[in-house]
Amino acid sequence: MTTHPLSPFRDDELASQCAELFGSHVAISPLSSIDRMGRRITGIDLTQPLSAPQARLLIALLDAFNIISFPRQDQHTFRVRDLERLANHYGAPIPHPKNYENYATYQRDGEPLRRLPVAKQTTTLCNNAFPDAITCTEDADSPAVYVVTNLPGSGRDKTEMLASGLHWHTDIEFEPEPLSTSMFYVQGVPTTRDAENGSWVPDVHPPEGFYHPESGDELTQRRLDLPLNGETAYADTAAAFADLPTDQQVELRQVMVRRRLRIGDPGWLIPLVYTNPRTGRLSLHSPVWASRGKNIAPVEVDGLSDRASREFLDDLERHVLDPKYRYDHAHTPGDVTIWSNFSTLHNAPPAKRIINRPEDARLMYRISCKGEPALTLPRDDTNDWMESNILPPYRSPSHYLRASPASA
Ligand SMILES: [Fe+2]
Repeated sequence: MTTHPLSPFRDDELASQCAELFGSHVAISPLSSIDRMGRRITGIDLTQPLSAPQARLLIALLDAFNIISFPRQDQHTFRVRDLERLANHYGAPIPHPKNYENYATYQRDGEPLRRLPVAKQTTTLCNNAFPDAITCTEDADSPAVYVVTNLPGSGRDKTEMLASGLHWHTDIEFEPEPLSTSMFYVQGVPTTRDAENGSWVPDVHPPEGFYHPESGDELTQRRLDLPLNGETAYADTAAAFADLPTDQQVELRQVMVRRRLRIGDPGWLIPLVYTNPRTGRLSLHSPVWASRGKNIAPVEVDGLSDRASREFLDDLERHVLDPKYRYDHAHTPGDVTIWSNFSTLHNAPPAKRIINRPEDARLMYRISCKGEPALTLPRDDTNDWMESNILPPYRSPSHYLRASPASA
């Protein structure tokens, strides 16, 4: 039996632990190949709460493989609260700013926070697009859920619009406690394939200036090489680090990067290389890319000028985006897919942003979390920690932490 080169666990041991804890019908297989990140785990029903040993195993699986996907959850019984319960084991779920009407002024001026009125909530906008064909799954309006979708503003009378892919990134890496884990539950994916090249969309590139013009041809080509069928693109920053020469690894472990919440903040320094506290595995953590969206503070490598920082990070990004570390995840309705933000970068693919037929709908629910994993729920995060790290402080309702009535 082959061993994953980055994993302290052997595949056959993990499989036998899965069979012991979840049943002999459970199977683990590579998402792409045995020597790369990503595993598919079939036969686990995530509507059922996890025991502590089961939670420990699922946390270990993510540590070992960076991305784990649980296909074919029963779409009749799976609710988004089941995803939120699962997220609580990996970290404290984070309310998403887009679920609030005044998040920016709340954050800046301390104004009392207000949820969006129901008519403006993403789930309502989704349900308005093709009401006879697609409506959001129950609990999708939780503050912790970010709805990844092209339904708002869409409808049968609308003109189709395309969007390019985004920057390679890790979600919200700039906070003092960065996100550890993100996960999707997939309700709908586009099924049409009538673009010129037989894919969902043509290859739409971002506008001039999206990336720094001096990034170099090879890096630019790697950044723009994105999947065209709605897949999420991932790059393995642990494998990329492990492949570097030992002397370069030693040097990189000394490098500090300045993180800032906002442009102009003094910020604080963090190591460029992340050490997984459970496995000791090293990865290039964020920000290992120099080009970020507007409004986000530029990255600064401690001791280097802006230009030297960019060139240094561009070199690393070119290495991380080497095709051998890439994996494009094709989503399927019913999938739950979890990824580590400490050992992957990802990118949203080019997509149809406005659609006029339900077959083009992309409807997925994302929850991200931070902090220590928890084997038992509810989590025991202190109020002080919550106030410092979860804005606004949010704890999942206790009934989300039990089995849904439909599946109990
Ligand atoms: Fe993201």
